[in-house]
Amino acid sequence: MFLHWLEFALFLTHGTALPTEQRPLIVESLGQRPRIPSHDLVKEKGLHGRFLHITDFHPDQFYETYSSTEEDTACHRGNGPAGIFGAETTDCDSPTTLVNATFKWINDNLKDTVDFVIWTGDSSRHDSDEEIPRTEKEVVATNELLVNKFEEVFGKEDDTDPTNDFIIPIIPNFGNNDIMPHNIMEPGPNKWTQKYLSVWRKFIPEEQRHGFSTGGWFSVEVIPKHLTVFSLNTMYFFEHNTAVDGCAERSEPGYQQMEWLRIQLQFLRNRGMKAILMGHVPPARTEAKLLWDETCWQKYTLWLQQYRDVIVGSVYGHMNIDHFLLQDHKDISNKALRGKTKTISRMALDDELTIQSTADYLTELRAGWSQIPDAPKMKSRSSSGSGHFYHLFESITRKKKQKKTKEDKFLEKIGGEWAERYSVSLVSPSVVPNYFPTLRVIEYNVSGLENLPMAHANCPEKTTLQEAEKTHRSIEGEDEEPIETEKKKSKKRNGKKKKPQFATPKSPSKSAPPGPAYSPQTLSLLGYTQYFANLTRINDDFEQDQAIDEQGWHNGKHSGKKPHKDKLRHHNKFKYEIEYDTRNDSVFGLKDLTVRSYLELAGRIGQYKPPKRDRIEDVDTEGSDTRENDGSVVTCGDHELAASKKKHKKHGKKHKHRKAINKVWFTFVNRAFVGARDDDELHDEFGQKV
Ligand SMILES: *[C@@H]1O[C@H](CO)[C@@H](O)[C@H](O)[C@H]1NC(C)=O
Ligand SMILES: *[C@@H]1O[C@H](CO)[C@@H](O)[C@H](O)[C@H]1NC(C)=O
Ligand SMILES: *[C@@H]1O[C@H](CO)[C@@H](O)[C@H](O)[C@H]1NC(C)=O
Ligand SMILES: *[C@@H]1O[C@H](CO)[C@@H](O)[C@H](O)[C@H]1NC(C)=O
Repeated sequence: MFLHWLEFALFLTHGTALPTEQRPLIVESLGQRPRIPSHDLVKEKGLHGRFLHITDFHPDQFYETYSSTEEDTACHRGNGPAGIFGAETTDCDSPTTLVNATFKWINDNLKDTVDFVIWTGDSSRHDSDEEIPRTEKEVVATNELLVNKFEEVFGKEDDTDPTNDFIIPIIPNFGNNDIMPHNIMEPGPNKWTQKYLSVWRKFIPEEQRHGFSTGGWFSVEVIPKHLTVFSLNTMYFFEHNTAVDGCAERSEPGYQQMEWLRIQLQFLRNRGMKAILMGHVPPARTEAKLLWDETCWQKYTLWLQQYRDVIVGSVYGHMNIDHFLLQDHKDISNKALRGKTKTISRMALDDELTIQSTADYLTELRAGWSQIPDAPKMKSRSSSGSGHFYHLFESITRKKKQKKTKEDKFLEKIGGEWAERYSVSLVSPSVVPNYFPTLRVIEYNVSGLENLPMAHANCPEKTTLQEAEKTHRSIEGEDEEPIETEKKKSKKRNGKKKKPQFATPKSPSKSAPPGPAYSPQTLSLLGYTQYFANLTRINDDFEQDQAIDEQGWHNGKHSGKKPHKDKLRHHNKFKYEIEYDTRNDSVFGLKDLTVRSYLELAGRIGQYKPPKRDRIEDVDTEGSDTRENDGSVVTCGDHELAASKKKHKKHGKKHKHRKAINKVWFTFVNRAFVGARDDDELHDEFGQKV
């Protein structure tokens, strides 16, 4: 029954159940889809088909309720609007009350409905208060605090098994604030990999511990023989980590991590298994936000392309805003892969997002998405006003021949029916209430796996391990061929230092069906529920809100206000509520989380055709000139520069896009800020209604 509810829904709306590849994508029908909770359909104790993604707690033991939210006090001192469960819409960190309430809510509402937890780091406060600088001890202690909280919720009550303390796997990850000084991690083994080997010991499978101590990366087989989660140490890809240098040179930990990942993915392919990748810093790559070293981005994207039969998806944190990224495999360049672009200049960059750079970043994402090939449109059966319909496959058409050609061309451009030219990274917003606290529950397809037992983090089967070692050895042995033959030539030509080499990841076998990120199948991501806690309502300190115009540090929407005496310490019940659910959200219209679905969403966000009467010839008020002063400009290597030049060439088009808002773009930016920002503000920044 679970397998067929979608067909059933389509039957309801169209009177016919079409084969998968002919289903028209009718966005508006999604709102009426019958929703059958999948947990009713899997056996007790079996898999639930859900996992929790939680990120960026930033617990702050110095947080004081009703302290000032201003930059120099950071919710540690003074009098102000900092609420009991946190100061929403500010740059303050999380009080322990918020951390505890979040775990209590998880305990009461999610504990028995998820198969594993992906926890993408930053489990320590920011170093934002000059009067109370962070210490190493404190950074470790707050991480330990969170480990304890996970243990309270997911720990085994009667623990007779010494090798496994948890009811489900919990997979931690290094955030750029989990180390000191923040952002800087030396190649391993180092004191941080050693320290966290002990803090996270219970979460790191025994056979992974050696690898972890060398580089801080590891993997967990969350569904034995079926699904592995890779916890990537993105500190070694991170542009702001000045202690390392990308992924092109063999001596770099980024290179080594990519090699490890490649070998592991090949190993999973050989075993017929799938993978989820997780990390803290996402592979954002725009002018306003260039977060990964280009050589790491290049390899990562190549790996995603070549192992597209294995990778289910990838999830990240760090940004605190809800969004997603598309990687275009056409951006993979042999030159850049080998590190043969000028190294990106390393300025002392502040990686925290100011409102201005966030707006630029989102606007740039949209500009990029506006270049996505347009899907051929069908003359709409619905009202012409909706304007954001994509009908990719037509089953009823008069001019069949002509349309078919258009469709063929379109499919060619996007890498075929499954859009294999692209891959997607999901970025979840944070617990720390830069906007509102959030968490995300992702649903995945467990069809055919319903009766499997859940995995335990620390007890992989013996046979599996032996197999693993065997395969590992054989893969290591077969990978000696270098990627480029050109390499040797260039070495001779330049007589420079030895150019790095690496083995090209093998592509899927010709007979392999499209991968789980592309075509819906077992383990494919189906959707997610985005939860948020409305701290304005929960803290209940103020009568009404006022938007405040601010830049840099955010004092929050209650800035300058003092809670009324009668309201002090009163609060409403703490809870997370549903912000949106991709499975029944009619604006995003994501029928699943495949690349093709995201490509369509991105295309719709990027799409804008100004109506003839008020075509917008707008002035670029927030162009690169003004941005030069805010410290967020990066000087790029050849490749990046080329990319940005290309973008500028298309500026005319881009400008029209940036100042006009359509419903799906507005919804996207509103959700980026977890619904915490004022509509008027959003219109000022992202475009007026048309
Ligand atoms: C949070 O929970 C921990 C136990 O996990 C407890 O020791 C601590 O007192 C709690 N703090 C607050 C502020 O509730
Ligand atoms: C789940 O996977 C099965 C095959 O393994 C597939 O037949 C089914 O359509 C998938 N379900 C959804 C909702 O994509
Ligand atoms: C949060 O709660 C406040 C106060 O009840 C309300 O005005 C606001 O609309 C809510 N925000 C969201 C996104 O639900
Ligand atoms: C969408 O599904 C959620 C359950 O995940 C439900 O609470 C919500 O009411 C649904 N919304 C719509 C518009 O059907």
